[in-house]
Amino acid sequence: MTIQKEIDRRKTFGIISHPDAGKTTLTEKLLLFGGAIQEAGAVKSNKIKKGATSDFMEIERQRGISVATSVLAFEYNGMKINILDTPGHKDFAEDTFRTLTAVDSVIVVIDVAKGVEEQTEKLVEVCRMRNIPMIVFINKLDREGKDAFELLDEIEQKLHLKVTPLSFPIGMGYDFKGIFNIWENNVNLFSGNSRKNIEETIEIEDIASHELEDLIGDKPANTLREELELVYEVYPDFDRKAYLDGTLQPVFFGSALNNFGVRELLDCFIDIAPKPRPKESDTRVVKPEEKDFSGFVFKIHANMDPKHRDRLAFVKIVSGTFERNTPYLHVRHGKKLKFSSPNAFFAEKKEIVDISYPGDIVGLHDTGNFKIGDTLTEGEEMQYKGIPSFSPEHFKYINNADPMKSKQLEKGIDQLMDEGVAQLFILELNGRKVIGTVGALQFEVIQYRLEHEYGAKCSYETLNVHKACWIDPKDPKSEEFADFKRVKSKFLAKDKRGQLVFFADSAFTLQMTQQKYPNIEFHFVSEFDKNKG
Ligand code: G4P
Repeated sequence: MTIQKEIDRRKTFGIISHPDAGKTTLTEKLLLFGGAIQEAGAVKSNKIKKGATSDFMEIERQRGISVATSVLAFEYNGMKINILDTPGHKDFAEDTFRTLTAVDSVIVVIDVAKGVEEQTEKLVEVCRMRNIPMIVFINKLDREGKDAFELLDEIEQKLHLKVTPLSFPIGMGYDFKGIFNIWENNVNLFSGNSRKNIEETIEIEDIASHELEDLIGDKPANTLREELELVYEVYPDFDRKAYLDGTLQPVFFGSALNNFGVRELLDCFIDIAPKPRPKESDTRVVKPEEKDFSGFVFKIHANMDPKHRDRLAFVKIVSGTFERNTPYLHVRHGKKLKFSSPNAFFAEKKEIVDISYPGDIVGLHDTGNFKIGDTLTEGEEMQYKGIPSFSPEHFKYINNADPMKSKQLEKGIDQLMDEGVAQLFILELNGRKVIGTVGALQFEVIQYRLEHEYGAKCSYETLNVHKACWIDPKDPKSEEFADFKRVKSKFLAKDKRGQLVFFADSAFTLQMTQQKYPNIEFHFVSEFDKNKG
């Protein structure tokens, strides 16, 4: 097969949702369709159980699962589909944000009863900002939930999306009878009265036909016709270009648990979802079909075995072919590296692979060479853009609790930061180390992992910081910037790449500071490529 054909048959995407909306169940059903797993229940949920914040075994269990489910690949109708796992837990949101830099599209799962929830809002906002094509799947139609039109309104308003339903539910909860498939223009009904384990669907071609009355009864048939009329009137027609540009989002309804509406979603997905897309680097836009290989690290996973400190760096292939035992340039280090056992991922297992194509993810064994955001090429000096480090929301001083182990502590902190577990800042005033995280859970993860993987002990001290932001003066030589540095000297720190960061102790302080220094930009996201370390 030519490289172009390999590119054309690849779809790399992520499923995002608020915890419990049904991401794991939907993933599992998609894998079942692809024959990648044989039974339901095979995909382990990667979520952290409620109330488990101080249960370290739970953290380890989650880490173990997350390497197994990082990439779930399967074949369907000649397509190679890569699902990239995105943790739903809010404390791991940064992981999810980074994974979103490696997907070409996403499916957003929403619970019909709960509607748009907090995590969905945050994740969709990131996708929207990057114009990632999105399909919405409204799940749990077998339960009582919100009215379909009300929900579509809510999605448009809260998520700022422009939707177009490609399927529509017939009834809901106890009265849920099936789905009208707008995309394929047919009706899929539950067979019999059972709402469990649906194996067959009855299709009718024409909505006007009396067959509909015979199947679902007079009243539901009329309601469906009226609702569809409204759908056609109110919502725009599906337009593939608008979907690919991220300005129109198709919506499907179904029940992942009952495997209803899932095949329709998958069939439409493989028709419309984008193949691997070009990606911007700091020098140019790189196209997948280019001959030379390039890719970037979006995730690093530490080995679970504390005796072997090697890690797995997940690389998304952007262009060309990645071949085993071939030297590639690690752009940040400026040196060539060869990989003798790159891993490819299938459903829940990984295997050594000789060749991989754009859209694929390879797992590279790493002994500390990689950081999140690193670029590999065949020799070209370029760095991929767009793997941000988000402004942390929790801050603590980190102290060495065992002076005999300070080297181990340094190394442990260094490697955990490279993995993207948290961010390290050094205060300008006194050189003290501050750890900043997006979620509170990370502090426990760091302490636990430092002890178990590096034999080092740390303690924390509270630090009152509301937000950290990266400072970008329009003119670094200006009097205004000099004044800012003088006045705020106690609140300045450097991040790992030496970039200046301002710690604001309250929202009010931040606002006042921004007003006082109009020629300084305060960023809440740092792009890794801005400061090659
Ligand atoms: P998540 O990964 O998004 O967190 O959600 P997950 O798939 O784990 O689903 C959360 C709960 O919702 C699970 O129930 C799951 O069985 C249920 N669920 C998923 N899809 C549907 C659906 O279409 N209809 C209904 N009624 N329920 C659905 P649980 O009781 O929390 O877990 P479990 O014991 O069933 O695994």
